[in-house]
Formats: sequence, structure tokens, C-alpha cells
Amino acid sequence: MTKFPFGPTYDEMLDPSLLDKDIRARALTALHENELDPINLFNITWRDSANDVRKVVLPSALTGIDANIVVMLGCGFPSGSHKVGPAYSTLIEGLVDGEIEPGVHTILGPSTGNFGIGTAYISNLLGFRAIVIMPDNMSKERYERIRRYGGELELTPGSESDVILTLEKTRELMQNPKNKALAQFELFPNYRFHRHVTGNSAIAAVRGVGNGRIAAFTSAPGSAGTIAAGDQIKAAFPEAKSAALEPYECSTLANGGQGQHRIEGIGDKMCTLIHNVLQTDFVVLIRDEETVQGVKLFHDGTEALVRAGVDRAFALGLRELFGPSGICNVLGAIKMAKHLRLGPGDNVVTVATDGFDRYNSVLDELNGRYLEISETVLDRWTHDIFIEAADCDVHDFRKPQIKEQLFAQKEKDWVKFGYTKEFLDSMREQKFWDAQYDKVPGYNQKISAKRSKPPAR
Ligand SMILES: Cc1ncc(COP(=O)(O)O)c(C=O)c1O
Repeated sequence: MTKFPFGPTYDEMLDPSLLDKDIRARALTALHENELDPINLFNITWRDSANDVRKVVLPSALTGIDANIVVMLGCGFPSGSHKVGPAYSTLIEGLVDGEIEPGVHTILGPSTGNFGIGTAYISNLLGFRAIVIMPDNMSKERYERIRRYGGELELTPGSESDVILTLEKTRELMQNPKNKALAQFELFPNYRFHRHVTGNSAIAAVRGVGNGRIAAFTSAPGSAGTIAAGDQIKAAFPEAKSAALEPYECSTLANGGQGQHRIEGIGDKMCTLIHNVLQTDFVVLIRDEETVQGVKLFHDGTEALVRAGVDRAFALGLRELFGPSGICNVLGAIKMAKHLRLGPGDNVVTVATDGFDRYNSVLDELNGRYLEISETVLDRWTHDIFIEAADCDVHDFRKPQIKEQLFAQKEKDWVKFGYTKEFLDSMREQKFWDAQYDKVPGYNQKISAKRSKPPAR
């Protein structure tokens, strides 16, 4: 039996002020007092207790550009990253469709970490057994958190770029009909969550910032769920450009390149099934070392940031908010602002998927490699990585013949998992994606009709 057979609708995740006031108040209390209280399902939202989107607007003293970089913060979600949103959305859709049954099914979460953490967490809250399938070389904090939430681990060899092995392992475990996979790379609740909840939250996040519009959205795809926000942003602001960011060391979308890299959560050596490449205007390459150096700077380099002109309280506030992929997204946003020649008043929106809490071991490793990271080094990093970031490695994917490369990559990656060419070709039209998105109101209705009231306190 599910411990808690209900949770928020897509609309309530977008705007939790729609929730019953008592439930919202109880959820907000539980977020800080008891993270395993199932009422936390109602905290799956970008909004804080004042119903504002959690964000920071990075100052020019740090970014070296006039445009605003608005970073939506994923670390405030329960389980510490916004990946809990797609995990919940996939499980709740399966529940209301009757495809996943409490007491019958075990939940599988193929992942490089945060989706696995989200899967273990949501399964715990809803009373399911969870098995997370992930590479054996990710940050140790990830495995610890999955175990803390009661998730079991099935490890496949390798690191970030070996995620295809996790998909193969998931396929193998799916032979057992009692196992149901929250297949983030190929199931559309991930697309729906990010297009509806993240996309519309981004639009809300720029109200009152600069010109109130969005000129560009940047996101480094792992599953390519988050980048679906770009579809919604482009629908609201037709001038907006959507940019996918990749590790320079694993430039699969840009030019088919494959290699190991250290930006955990992204760059998985494929074009995922749910990536709407029609809406991807640019692919931008980011050096992995700069993202880890950026984490060091934000976490331990407050004085260097202050010397560069960043307000001290703001710099201190950054310490816990970013991991390497968040820094990657910021660097991509700076490059896009430079490439598009954006000026004062223009906004580039991006996300920090998770916060620093799962990267202590990554900084230990960095400190070990550099032996001495003096204030001079931190000053240099502030300038070289951020203030003077070059707008190189920006690939324009707007021409149809260039876009073909992305369709071809997707075909190469997914025909082997049983998807037909006809199905993949149907994704070449925006109406395929709009039809997926149009299922949101139906799921809102099903979720609210099928859930029962939370038990009284
Ligand atoms: C830290 C981190 N950053 C970025 C991503 C990529 O997000 P998405 O899977 O929505 O593309 C992930 C995905 O797991 C992640 O864990």
C-alpha cells in the first residue's frame, strides 16, 4: 500500500498557493523539520514560502556582462535537487494511469545521481521499494543519500559518460514484470514537468527583473528534461534562444564527440529521446575543469569575489547554492549573452540543479590535485573563468541541415532500444511535443480526482 496516495498536480507544483492553506503550511514546516514526512510531496516546486521563485541574479562584477543572469535554484526542492520533480511526475502519472500499483511494483531509477536520489526519496514517501541504477564512479555523497532514503543501489561500471550502461541494465531488470522504471531519458512526464513547471516558473522569475523578458535559456542536458523549459519560454518570448550546454570533453550533440568528464549529471554521450531538438538553437561547450574550479570559487572564494566587486553578503549567499553543473549553466549563460550581444535589461535564465551539499568530495579531490589554491589563484579564476569568459565554442544549430545532425544522433541512440524510425521521425514536428504537453490538464484532473485527503496531523 502507498503510505500516502496523493500529491500535487502539475499546476500546484507550478503555483503552490493553489494548495489548501493548511496543507501548504504543514508542508513548509516539514521541509525543515522532517524531510521524510510524506507531506513534503507538496514542496515539489520552485517557489519559496512567500511564493517567489527561488533564484539569484548574478551581478556584472562577477559575470563581466551587462545582461542579467537569473539562476533558478534547485537546491530548495526536497531531496536537494529539482530532479525530484520529474521522478514524482513519472511515478504519479504511472499511479493514476494504473500502470504502477502500490504493493506490487518495485521502482527502478536509471540515473547518474540526482534523479536516483529523487526516485529513492519519492518511493520512500509513497511507500515503494526503489532500486537506483547508476554508474559506480559518481560523488560518494550521492550513494549515501540514496541509502539514507532507503533506496537500493545497482551499480554499473564507469562514470558520467557511461550512462548507456545504466539503460541497458534497466532494460535487463525490466524483464521482471514487477519492476517499473521511471525512465527519465525516454518518458514524457519529465518533459511535461519541466515545460510546464520549470518553464512557467522561469517566466515568473524574470517579472520585475530587467525588461521582464527572457532573451536566452541555457541548460546542460542530462536527461534533457530541464531544457524543455526552453520550449515554454520560447512560446512566451519568441525572440528567446535555447542553448544546450555540453562538456567540451564529451561534445556528443555538437559534433558526436565522446569522452570522460567531471560535470556530474550532464553530458551522457547521447541525444535523449525526450530532447526536443527542434527548439535547441545553440550547443555550447564548457570545459569541465572550469566548472569544478567555479564550485571552489563560489564555496571557498568569498574574498576573491569581494575583491572583484561582488557584495559580501551576496558572495556569502552563493556558498551552498552551486554544484559543477550549475556553474556550467552560468558559464553557458555568460557565453550566450556575449554571443547574442545582449545588453542592460536583457535576461538570460538558467538553473542550478542542485547545491554544494553533494560535492564536498569533489572539492577534496580538487584541493588534492592543486595542492595550494592561494588567494592569487582564486583571483585568477574569477577573471579567467567568469569575468573574461570567451564566447568561443558556441555552435549555431538553427539551420535545418545542421539540426539534422541531432536527429541522426537521436536515431543512432534509440533505434537500438526498440524505437522505430517512424516514431523518431514523428518527433521532427513541433506538434508531437505540443501533444505531449497538452496532456498536462488531463493529469491535473486525474491526480486531483484520485488522491485522498492527507491524514490529519
Ligand atoms: C547535477 C545535475 N545537473 C544537471 C542535470 C541535467 O538535468 P536534466 O536531466 O533535466 O537534463 C542533472 C540530471 O540528473 C543533474 O543531476
